[in-house]
Amino acid sequence: QTFDIGLIGLSVMGRSLALNIADHGFKVAGYNRSPEVTEQVMKEHPHENLGAFYSLEDLLAALKKPRKIFLMIQAGRPVDAVIDQLTPLLEAGDIVMDGGNSYFEDTNRRFAKLEEKGIRYLGVGVSGGEEGARRGPSIMPGGSREAYEEVSSILESIAAKAMNEPCCTYIGPKGAGHYVKMVHNGIEYADMQLIAEAYLMLKYAGGFTNEELAATFHEWNEGELKSYLIEITADIFREKDDLAPGYLIDHILDSAKQKGTGRWASIESLHQGVDISMITAACNARVMSNQLEQRKAASGLIPDTLPAQNAENIPYSGDKKAFASMVRDALYSGKIIAYAQGFALMNDASAQFEWNLDLGRIASIFRAGCIIQAAFLNDITEAYHRDKGLPNLILDEFFLARINQNQNSLRRVVSTAILNGLPVPAFANAVSYLDEFRSKANGANLIQAQRDCFGAHTFERTDRDGAFHHEWRESL
Ligand code: 6PG
Repeated sequence: QTFDIGLIGLSVMGRSLALNIADHGFKVAGYNRSPEVTEQVMKEHPHENLGAFYSLEDLLAALKKPRKIFLMIQAGRPVDAVIDQLTPLLEAGDIVMDGGNSYFEDTNRRFAKLEEKGIRYLGVGVSGGEEGARRGPSIMPGGSREAYEEVSSILESIAAKAMNEPCCTYIGPKGAGHYVKMVHNGIEYADMQLIAEAYLMLKYAGGFTNEELAATFHEWNEGELKSYLIEITADIFREKDDLAPGYLIDHILDSAKQKGTGRWASIESLHQGVDISMITAACNARVMSNQLEQRKAASGLIPDTLPAQNAENIPYSGDKKAFASMVRDALYSGKIIAYAQGFALMNDASAQFEWNLDLGRIASIFRAGCIIQAAFLNDITEAYHRDKGLPNLILDEFFLARINQNQNSLRRVVSTAILNGLPVPAFANAVSYLDEFRSKANGANLIQAQRDCFGAHTFERTDRDGAFHHEWRESL
């Protein structure tokens, strides 16, 4: 019993994490359902702290007690199948961690099931892709706090570091860790969609070449937009194609896939009653992008612009620098609103599920290692330091000032896109959200009147307390 932790599932993410843990001086017992994968890992990545096991019994027998087992397998049924195989072999006090992108309700269920047997369970959100897993991911563990204390030395040592702090913290009970990972992915979808829309604007409304796009994103990455996604975007525009002349980006099919975690966030927001319209718009944009045949047919039927009418409305005068800074400012304010929506969803979950989430700490572990890592997460961390109970990030003094400074660019980008027939669902939803958020008049008085008129659903009055019903003479 000399191994500190068992790692089940040695495909790309699992093996990267196993090697990361091994690098930090912990002895890792690796196991994969297909033995060939284990053999391949041992051959290609031999490591003095990594041992190979070919049965779950042997793996468990090799672990120090209480045993710590990390699952890095495909979310969904495979996780239940492995837990079912493991359960009879485990003892009370053992710790099982699921590092996949599991649905948080599944994690709630698994937590409760294993708790009955005294087995401690952690649903662990892990972000950062292969490179993150290997060199330092952002880690979001939820479930048994006591179990977390026992594995924290491993998880915190392998996590990315931001300002010398590990990007790993106990998130909250049961499925809270996977919930936060789900929202992280929702924000990731919105962030990527905003960047894609900025690209559309620059390319089709501004006439930017790939080299100009690369230079623009590179420049943006030096300022307040500094982030992993902007950095890789700049690099992507520079990539030449191997199979055909020109740049790779122009040979990639315009149809985005998804595995569904962003969609879960969107579905959950409707259940909870929190508006995360930008994340939902980003999910829908991927769905619409998949309708290649219909899009092709419709593009011949519906002209994209009415040039004679819109020419004077387009603020683009040919000054590429000015155009790029307008798009940059719009992107920055759109990003604030997307993160505000994601954090508002977590804020609501914290109250509804009594998870007591520390949103400032969560922002701080997103500062490095994960896909949405960005300089701007320091500002979010600070906003929650100023006010732990901040209901919406937009109301923080720093972000409020930025929104007020940049909202004009956001509006101009949306109007330019609309007049040019360019689809910008994330930008457009950012403006709508902002206007719903700040507007004194949302038209809901009329909706209440309609509801009362057709269904006697009652309404509240502005000048008196209570629920009123009116006999609607005019509609009869
Ligand atoms: C991460 C990512 C990762 C996710 C991919 C793909 O944080 O490392 O969120 O977990 O699986 O980004 O997601 P989609 O296939 O849904 O785009």
